[in-house]
Amino acid sequence: MVKKLNYKNHKIWQKAKRLIPGGNMLISKRPELMLPIFWPTYYSKAKDCFVWDLDNKKYIDFSLMGVGTNILGYSNKQINNKIIETVKKGNMSSLNCPEEIELSKMLLSLNKWADMVKFARSGGEANAISIRIARAASKKDHIAVCGYHGWHDWYLAANLNKKNKLDKYLLKGLKTKGVPKNLENSIHTFLYNDLDGLKKLINKNPKIGIIKMEVIRNFPPKDDFLKKVRQLCNKKNIILIFDECTSGFRETFGGIHKKYGVNPDIAIYGKALGNGFAITAIVGKAKIMKNAKETFISSTFWSERIGFVAAIETLKFMKKKRTWLKISKVGDQIKRAWAQIFKKYGYDVSISGIRSIPSFSFNEKNKERSTFFTQEMLKKGYLAGNLIFVSIAHKKDMVEKYLKEFDQTIFKMHEIEKKISLKKKILGPLKFDVFRRLN
Ligand SMILES: Cc1ncc(COP(=O)(O)O)c(C=O)c1O
Repeated sequence: MVKKLNYKNHKIWQKAKRLIPGGNMLISKRPELMLPIFWPTYYSKAKDCFVWDLDNKKYIDFSLMGVGTNILGYSNKQINNKIIETVKKGNMSSLNCPEEIELSKMLLSLNKWADMVKFARSGGEANAISIRIARAASKKDHIAVCGYHGWHDWYLAANLNKKNKLDKYLLKGLKTKGVPKNLENSIHTFLYNDLDGLKKLINKNPKIGIIKMEVIRNFPPKDDFLKKVRQLCNKKNIILIFDECTSGFRETFGGIHKKYGVNPDIAIYGKALGNGFAITAIVGKAKIMKNAKETFISSTFWSERIGFVAAIETLKFMKKKRTWLKISKVGDQIKRAWAQIFKKYGYDVSISGIRSIPSFSFNEKNKERSTFFTQEMLKKGYLAGNLIFVSIAHKKDMVEKYLKEFDQTIFKMHEIEKKISLKKKILGPLKFDVFRRLN
């Protein structure tokens, strides 16, 4: 386990930033968002919920767990065995792999309202595909959005005018250089649980033919919000797309929309679907999906075999072990314990997130306190921040130990703050603002 903080990997990160714009491929894995300078940043291996850095130091991951991809834990043996078998048989060929049909059938059996499926490899890509298909079907270009849906032009266009509409959901001031200016005003944002706001938006903009939203992110729907959005879509002939990239398979076997009894016209799955192997899916009604044939949507690596194999095996595993129930229970336990600990030491904190993705935020001095928390937990050998993607690898004894360490860390914070500014005990710069999603 880790005894002290180490900044060796920081030097590698500085070099990476000279070679790779931004330093890496995924903003959420940038060390500045967790603990600038001391975050380990690079891994040599990962297993269950353990991660080893380049010096072979072992950490317990109570943070992003592969940014939500690994509900079954890292390097899951059952999935890996199937992948190794597939690699030996050939991951790619001039012909199609039959697993894409098997996976389509499995996903349709989980989404009885749907008839057809397309696959991709990233969540942003799957969202872009769904938008192309839905625009072709609705014959309308404008879209109402609520949530995060990737990096593509269609979505970032929301920020083209001075209002920076995505500020309400994400990092402030997300830049749009390179996004064609003529997409300006094609994307309209609305706030979660604000039905009146959405109705006004739709009435004012008859060109809106699609509503795309995350079913839930931090707070549950109020006053039958989802049902009423569905009714609005039916009345106005609008295509409803639920982006389940993050929420899928976390609280139900499929989309979290099942919990609320509201079906979309298209659902997007990603992240956990392949337990760390790249595979995403667009599942939808035939009358909409068949419009994919009226446009051009095609990519070489969408046919790669291991993604399908990983997803088939992951779904079998999830079904057998009913993993969504297990991770939700652990998430509830963590939320309850956090609330008690913060209350004990008198901290005013907001706790939110769906059951298996608990998160907290200090209502005062959040950056400072969160940085100190991550620093102290790292010293104890934990990758820990304000958010946990719970996995089945987070076993009972580990969760109990984490909560004990959590309690001691908040106690230490409290003791320091009684005497001096916490900043004096923070060894490096404060962490940067994380992706902020308010819906
Ligand atoms: C709801 C949602 N949609 C889309 C995406 C984008 O997925 P990807 O990063 O795989 O492109 C994410 C990623 O965080 C997400 O949470």
